Amino acid sequence: MMNFQLTEEQLAVQEAARDFAQSELLPEVIERDTEARFPTEQIQKMGALGFMGMMVDPAYGGGGMDTISYVIAMEELSKIDASASVSMSVNNSLVCWGIEKYGTEEQKQTYLNKLATGAHLGAFCLSEPEAGSDATSQQTTATLDGDHYLLNGTKNWITNGSSASIYLVIAQTDASKGHKGISAFIVEKGWEGFVVGKKEDKLGIRGSDTHSLMFTDVKVPIQNRIGAEGFGFTFAMETLNGGRIGIAAQALGIASGAYELALAYSKERKTFGKPISQHQAIQFKLADMATQIEAARLLVYKAAWLKDEGKDYAQASAMAKLYASEVAMSVTIEAVQVHGGYGYVKEYHVERLMRDAKITQIYEGTSEIQRIVISRGVLK
Ligand code: CAA
Repeated sequence: MMNFQLTEEQLAVQEAARDFAQSELLPEVIERDTEARFPTEQIQKMGALGFMGMMVDPAYGGGGMDTISYVIAMEELSKIDASASVSMSVNNSLVCWGIEKYGTEEQKQTYLNKLATGAHLGAFCLSEPEAGSDATSQQTTATLDGDHYLLNGTKNWITNGSSASIYLVIAQTDASKGHKGISAFIVEKGWEGFVVGKKEDKLGIRGSDTHSLMFTDVKVPIQNRIGAEGFGFTFAMETLNGGRIGIAAQALGIASGAYELALAYSKERKTFGKPISQHQAIQFKLADMATQIEAARLLVYKAAWLKDEGKDYAQASAMAKLYASEVAMSVTIEAVQVHGGYGYVKEYHVERLMRDAKITQIYEGTSEIQRIVISRGVLK
């Protein structure tokens, strides 16, 4: 069956997210970007509205919604504030999903309720100074010592780095086994030996707090390991397959936010005696932007649909992320061009969206990583 119609519930989510973005995210989004200020209050409100655990079972405080609803909300919020939406994406797609899918009942009772309601924020800690794209080269170690592990190492580029309180940490438990010797753990902020390191000063998503984290002999109880020893790499890959749908939706939102601004501006701004939307040079740009965005949206929805249907979505999510992030980059550049000089100043928002777009080609796997995942699917 082929059906491109959104349900009543999905349309309601879209409207709620659109209203929230306009009333709560738009005010001060420029200031938060300039000052690299985390949207603390806004994230709390997003939690209260159910945006932080949208797909989690209501039994654990979540919204029990489908992935399509989640990508719709991600798109709407990302049109205005990609810093807030990346917090939401990491919390929903990586942390909540990872614990709900693979955690024990005890882990769900202890952590998932808090995360799904937005009362606590989660972070996903895979990247290291020497292990970004090459994620199997984990240097962080977790050594079994009685009823706990001792965690040692450094993580890099961690979204929600200081604002989170619950961290999923990937570490080597048996270096001799390569990626099959990697395990996943739930670690709480405040445990002895866990230090939040420096905050990164970034090109875009400046409101998002990206930190390095240091672990020195941090005692992690055995019951905080997710799955068996050696399951951590598969856990990270499976989690990222879903995470990439969230980032693809973010990229789609950044692109459509910039497009909507360019479209509105083109109808207002006059040159040579008429609105610039009446010049073919601008019309062709708008046509290309609209087409690229529509194609990206179809890929994003398709990946979300496959996930909801319980079908394999690794390749589809990589395709959606690869394409939507390229569209985000090209559409935001064109949106700045449509605005001319005004596009180059903060007040008009498109320069921020252009800077924000770039990260979608980098995090949760660079475009090159997505091509590796896609080509493996193609050649299988
Ligand atoms: N889905 C499921 N399983 C996968 C997978 C996927 N997408 N990709 C790899 N795997 C599995 C493989 O099937 C293999 O399993 P088996 O051993 O059972 O056969 C295992 O993982 C190891 O794979 P490879 O031997 O292929 O390992 P590799 O080193 O050649 O390549 C990689 C793996 C795909 C390049 C992987 O390292 C990767 O995805 N790297 C990118 C990591 C990444 O996305 N980091 C983002 C950080 S998180 C972040 O950004 C969050 C944030 O804060 C916003």
